[in-house]
Amino acid sequence: MTSGGPVGDAREPCAPWKGRRLVLGVCGGIAAYKSVQLARDLTLLGATVDVVLTGSARNFVAPLSFEGVTGRGALTDLFSVEGAALHVSLGREADCVCIAPATADFIARAASGRASDLLTTAVVASGAPVVVAPAMNDSMFAHPRTQANLARLEASPRYHRVGPATGLLAAGEGSGPGRMAEPGEVVDAVGRVMGSGGALSGARVVVTGGPTREPIDPVRYLGNRSSGKMGVALARTAWLRGAEVTLVTGPASVPLPDGMEVVRVETARQMRDAVLALAGEADAAVFAAAVADYRPREVKSGKIKRSEAGNSLTVGFTANPDIAAGAVARMKAGSVSVGFALETSDLVARAEAKLAAKGLDLIVANRAGEDGAGFEADTNRVTILGRGVAPRELPLMDKFAVAWEITGLIEARLGKGGGVVRTGHPHRKSAGAARRQPE
Ligand code: CTP
Repeated sequence: MTSGGPVGDAREPCAPWKGRRLVLGVCGGIAAYKSVQLARDLTLLGATVDVVLTGSARNFVAPLSFEGVTGRGALTDLFSVEGAALHVSLGREADCVCIAPATADFIARAASGRASDLLTTAVVASGAPVVVAPAMNDSMFAHPRTQANLARLEASPRYHRVGPATGLLAAGEGSGPGRMAEPGEVVDAVGRVMGSGGALSGARVVVTGGPTREPIDPVRYLGNRSSGKMGVALARTAWLRGAEVTLVTGPASVPLPDGMEVVRVETARQMRDAVLALAGEADAAVFAAAVADYRPREVKSGKIKRSEAGNSLTVGFTANPDIAAGAVARMKAGSVSVGFALETSDLVARAEAKLAAKGLDLIVANRAGEDGAGFEADTNRVTILGRGVAPRELPLMDKFAVAWEITGLIEARLGKGGGVVRTGHPHRKSAGAARRQPE
């Protein structure tokens, strides 16, 4: 997934991985420069990140660079002052081990179970899942031995591969597959591995997002300012919590996520058809789309010409279907539905009325026109209401953080209901207590 990075700066901090421990292994490749960003992103998401550099990694990047972004000393030596059993404690305490970049040499050593330096020793001593981000020259990646070693690792449920991408390699070295996945993709791969195992793991989640466009003639449409950011953030956080996500989105102005099914639609009726086809099987649905309530009664087959229409034009409208209400009526018992309510006044009362009218379990209310919230903004200030629970007002937060809260509430409700048939993600464990994964 490449849908935006983690959250930092002035907003309410979002630290979904607080209390989680990660080992970030950095091997000797030019892509090691990306690992500093990766270490920073993982740290900003709340994780405690122990960076382990191989000997050759130190030729590309300095331990101090990592110390600057993680606030912890980077580790390099198997036999060091940190203690003789460092390799054991590192691995034992890790919730996930991430190797980025993973060189051909590391992959070969890991595939054969070698423990020849601090990093490989920690991997062998750990039972935690391992996310591997290969990065190397394209001919090294294509080499049958490298491919065989990777296949051997991937045969184990403990190992998860992200990348490599196809793109420019080191200067003058072409552009075949071998480029390390971008830090955002590696963060998401680590997050999915750590996030799976809760009540959303394996759950089928449908998210609507973006605006709809209602055509007036072949070149014009009725639309709105929705960017699609909230829908993307909801889809991404549900995916990070292990769900099988389908994002049904109108034309969004932000990149759409990888790693999940994305259904692109234009009109409200196309969105309705796509959502209704999925609603019956969904364990949860979140309706974040800004659906046009009305569409032109008649779509002109030719362009409306000013020279013919003159100085005034009247377009008649007809109501669009209510997608959320229609979908909720089809959803199975024990499922969870969440709507949004954009209001200019009487926020709580109007949102409560929508919650009841559409048969939703939760509704996320926000005020139109507030600075830093709503359409196009990166942030949102919302109040979450549910049937039989007191309204919960959240501070101004990044949309990712808002989405993390919402999907957390869905997870909690599904956990209580217990109605989800899970497809099995064996990687979740309580923080700080690694469970051995089968090799
Ligand atoms: N919604 C929907 N289909 C529609 C209109 C709205 O699925 N045709 C969903 C939205 O995605 C949101 C919720 O219903 O989750 C409320 O949308 P909102 O635009 O706030 O309210 P409306 O239902 O359109 O009501 P009103 O225009 O009176 O505010």
